[in-house]
Amino acid sequence: MNVQTIMVIGAGQMGSGIAQVCAMANFKVYLHDLKEEYVQKGVASIAAQLSRQVNKGRMTPEDRDGVLDRLLPSTSIQNAAEADLIIEAVVENMDVKTQVFKMLDEMAPEHAILASNTSSLPITEIAAVTKRPEKVIGMHFMNPVPVMKLVEIIRGLQTSDEVYETIESITKKIGKVPVEVQDFPGFISNRILMPMINEAIFALYEGVAEPEAIDEIMKLGMNHPMGPLTLADFIGLDTCLYIMETLHEGFGDDKYRPCPLLRKYVKAGWLGKKTGKGFYTYN
Ligand code: NAI
Repeated sequence: MNVQTIMVIGAGQMGSGIAQVCAMANFKVYLHDLKEEYVQKGVASIAAQLSRQVNKGRMTPEDRDGVLDRLLPSTSIQNAAEADLIIEAVVENMDVKTQVFKMLDEMAPEHAILASNTSSLPITEIAAVTKRPEKVIGMHFMNPVPVMKLVEIIRGLQTSDEVYETIESITKKIGKVPVEVQDFPGFISNRILMPMINEAIFALYEGVAEPEAIDEIMKLGMNHPMGPLTLADFIGLDTCLYIMETLHEGFGDDKYRPCPLLRKYVKAGWLGKKTGKGFYTYN
C-alpha cells in the first residue's frame, strides 16, 4: 500500500511528536486539532524541538525548514479526504475516540488506514464503529516520540495482514522499531508499566515514603532512568487514570484498581507536567 500523506488527529504532546517524525521521514503531514490555537501550539513545539537539533549541529537549517514545510496545520476534518494514513492521538477516552473514528471513516478515502495511538483502549472495539475494521490498527508510540525507538503495533481482531505489513514498514521508515502485540487491555507496555506506577502512588498514599524517596529507590535500585512518579507526571495523570480504569474494567481484577490518590489529583486538575502540578511542581 502506497502511503504519501499522513494526517495526525490531536496536536497534544503525542500528536505533535508523531507529526514531527513523520514529516522528518518526508511524508506530507496534516496536524489536526479542534482549535487553531491547539494546532499552533503543536507546530510551535515541533519548531522549537527542530531548532534545538539545529543548534546542536544534528540538523541543517534547510532540513528543518523542509520538515516545517511538509507540516500542514489543520482544523478542518475534511482534510482527511487527502490522507492515505490517519493516526489518531486525541484524549484516552473511548467515547471521544469512537466519535473521531466514525467521522474519519466517513471522510477518509476508501483505501486509507486508520491507526490509533491509544495507550490501552481495545483496537477491535474502535474498529467496530467503522465500515473498514480490517484497515484499523494500533500504533502506540512512546513519549517523547522523537526520542523513543519503540512503536507497539496492535492488531485488532479483524486487522488485515496487508495493513499490518504497511504499518510495520512505515514504522521502520520513520526510524522506529515495530513490535507486534495482540489486542488485550493495556497491550504489553502499559499492562506492565501502569500497575507499577499505580503501586508507587499507593505507597505514597499509605505514607510509606515521600515522592522523592520512591523515585530515588526505583532509579538507583532498579536502574530505571526515571522514577515512577516522575514518569506519571510526564505521561499525564489523567492518561494514567484512564489506562488503569481500562485495565481494571478489562481484567476485572482488584490488582488493577486505580489508587484513590490518583483519582483525587486528577479531580483537582493536577495532571502532571502539562498542568504544572502533579506529584511534583513544574514552572
Ligand atoms: P494531550 O492532552 O497532550 O493531547 C490531546 C489532544 O487531542 C489535545 O490537543 C486535544 O485538543 C485534542 N483533541 C481532543 N479531542 C479531539 C477531537 N475530537 N478532534 C481533534 N483533536 C482532539 O494528550 P496526549 O498525552 O498527547 O495523549 C494522546 C493519546 O496518546 C492518548 O490516547 C494517550 O493515551 C496516548 N499516549 C500518550 C502517551 C503519553 O505519555 N502521554 C504515550 C503513548 C500514548
